[in-house]
Amino acid sequence: MQVMDFETDEDSKSIKHSTLVDINGVPLLSAMINGWDPIWNFKARPDDLLICTYPKAGTTWIQEIVDMIQHGGDLQKCARAPIHERMPFIDLYYSKFNLSGVEEANAMASPRTLKSHLPVQLLPPSFWEQKSKIIYVARNAKDNVVSYFHFHRMALAMPEPGTWEEFLENFMAGKVTWGSWFDHVRGWWEAKDHHPILYLFYEDMKKNPGQEIQKVAEFLDVQLPESVLNQIFQHTEFECMKANPMTNYTMMPSIFLDHTISPFMRKGTVGNWKEHFTVAQSERLDDLCAQLLKGSGLTFRTEL
Ligand code: A3P
Repeated sequence: MQVMDFETDEDSKSIKHSTLVDINGVPLLSAMINGWDPIWNFKARPDDLLICTYPKAGTTWIQEIVDMIQHGGDLQKCARAPIHERMPFIDLYYSKFNLSGVEEANAMASPRTLKSHLPVQLLPPSFWEQKSKIIYVARNAKDNVVSYFHFHRMALAMPEPGTWEEFLENFMAGKVTWGSWFDHVRGWWEAKDHHPILYLFYEDMKKNPGQEIQKVAEFLDVQLPESVLNQIFQHTEFECMKANPMTNYTMMPSIFLDHTISPFMRKGTVGNWKEHFTVAQSERLDDLCAQLLKGSGLTFRTEL
């Protein structure tokens, strides 16, 4: 099973950018090909909670909110390990570094909270069979693609992003890791009609965090006093999470994430896209959203 998935430099201390491969019609990291069978056959449990997002939609933010809710706002408990260790990322498969999200999850006692970026059609079927709860966070396409571009620059195992113009073209064509943003947000939106899925929006979380935290608590059947909800709100504010080594990804080895290129906790805003998009690019993406989300009832705010 020890397949060299990512090309490494001679000293094995640094990694080269990955390439994309097609897995059932979705572009995914080449490394995942060898790990795909265990991912697809993953055994979900009825009391699992899955946090699912398109990459850069606010995954880490909702993860910390969920962990805080699950631990009654206990800061020490939530500082027990970096966020990527607290909640296994089931899509992760990187044999050279012995990383397997499935193996991490299998070794974890219930109840587990797991993370995935898989589009709905690639979700391991056991999640549907076990009726495990799922929280999905969606973010408007413009801020999402800007964040994804900067993440590609600093996440050294991701495919090379090229220029902003090139990356945006690939994003609009669905030729980026984890596939089409349009299919992703729409597929999960439709899935919530037949599965226990709480579908949240990054923009709502920015606009009214207290209300969205309360929604999550209700979905998890947890009742918390106002004081604890306030504490969760404060602890999960952008500046707080940016300064917290357990949430800002600085504990991940720098061969994977180079924060000197672009920090993981970058801006944390709605509307940063305006500093990247030309008017023509913005109009094209608006048109695509109108076309590809038509009839779904799904709408996004690109400013607050
Ligand atoms: P930006 O690059 O726009 O700043 P993910 O966790 O899915 O990888 O998403 C990362 C994005 O969410 C980054 O967006 C990051 O700054 C933002 N983010 C993380 N924590 C946040 C918080 N507490 N509040 C607002 N945005 C947050």
